[in-house]
Amino acid sequence: MINLIKKLPKAELHLHIEGSLEPELMFKLAQKNQIDIPYKTIEDVRQAYNFTNLQSFLDIYYAGANVLVTQDDFYDLTWEYIQKCVEDNVVHTEIFFDPQTHTARGIAFETVINGIKSALDDAQARYGITSGIIMCFLRHLSQQDAFDTLTQALAYKDDITGIGLDSAELGNPPSKFKEVFQQAKEEGFKLVAHAGEEADFSYIYEAIDLLAIDRIDHGVQSIGSNELMQRLKAEQIPLTVCPNSNIELKVFDSYEQHNIKQLLDYGLNVCVNSDDPAYFKGYINQNFINLYEHLSLTEDDIVTLVKNSFRSSFIDDDLKEHYLNKVDQALR
Ligand code: HPA
Ligand code: ZN
Repeated sequence: MINLIKKLPKAELHLHIEGSLEPELMFKLAQKNQIDIPYKTIEDVRQAYNFTNLQSFLDIYYAGANVLVTQDDFYDLTWEYIQKCVEDNVVHTEIFFDPQTHTARGIAFETVINGIKSALDDAQARYGITSGIIMCFLRHLSQQDAFDTLTQALAYKDDITGIGLDSAELGNPPSKFKEVFQQAKEEGFKLVAHAGEEADFSYIYEAIDLLAIDRIDHGVQSIGSNELMQRLKAEQIPLTVCPNSNIELKVFDSYEQHNIKQLLDYGLNVCVNSDDPAYFKGYINQNFINLYEHLSLTEDDIVTLVKNSFRSSFIDDDLKEHYLNKVDQALR
C-alpha cells in the first residue's frame, strides 16, 4: 500500500508556502539576511516544534517567516517545496501565501508574489507540475487590512487563482470578512477559508453561507452537526483535510482518533494535504502513510482521497480528466 501511495499522482490543495520553510533554509537565510532567530542549532529548532494548539504554532511560524526578505528567498522557498512535490508525485499544487506577514515587515507585495510565481513557472517548465496561487488574509487582523491587501492583489490578478482566510481561528469568525470576500468574488477569484479546524461547525456554516466559499480548509469539526454533514455531502463541498497538522496542533489526541475515515465513509468530499509540512513532520505522502497505518485505510479509500484532490482543484475539466486518467493508469 505504501508503494501505491507513492506511485499515485496527487494534487495538493492546502499548503502554506511559508509552512514549507525547512530549518536548514531558515538558518541559511537568517545568516544571509542578518535576521535574528531564537535558535542556535537545527536541533534547537526541531525541539521548539512542540505545539499545544494552533496559536502556539502560529507564534513560531510567523517568527520563522521573518528570514524571508528578497525575491530570491521566496523563489528558493518555493523551489524547495517543488522538489518535495517531485519526490511525492504531486503533479498539481495550489499553494497559499500570507502577504500581510511580509508587507507588515516592509517587504513589498511584488517581491513575494514574483518570487513564488517564477518558481512555479520553472516547476511547470522543468517538471510539468501545474499550480495555482491562493492569497490568504490573516483573520487576526482587521477586515480593512484585508481590503487593502485585496487592492494590492488586483495588479496580480492573472497570477492569483483564489483568496483564502487563515491564522488564529477562535474569535475571528468568517463573518468578520463578509464584505471583503464579496468583493473578491466580484473580482472573479475562487474562494476558500479555513473553518472548523479548532472552532466549532458554526464557522463552517458561516464560510459557506456568508462567504460563499468554493472549498473549506480543514472542516473536521463538521462532525458536530448532522445537518451540516448532510449538506456537505449533498453539495459535495470539498474539505481539504490535513491529518499531520491536526495531530501536531492537538485537534485530535491521536491518529486513531482522527475522523477523516468517518467523513469519507459518510460520503463527504475530503482530500489529504500537508498544511505546513516543515513544521508538522512530513509532506503529503507521509500524511497518507500515517493514515494508512493508524486508520486502516483501504486501497479504495486512498484512491478516492487522491481522486477527490483533483476533482476539488481549480483546474479546468480537461486537465482534471487528464489527471484522473493518470491515476487510473498508475493503478493498472
Ligand atoms: N490554520 C490557520 N492558519 C494557518 C495554518 C492553519 O493550519 N497554517 C498556517 N497558517
Ligand atoms: Zn492551513
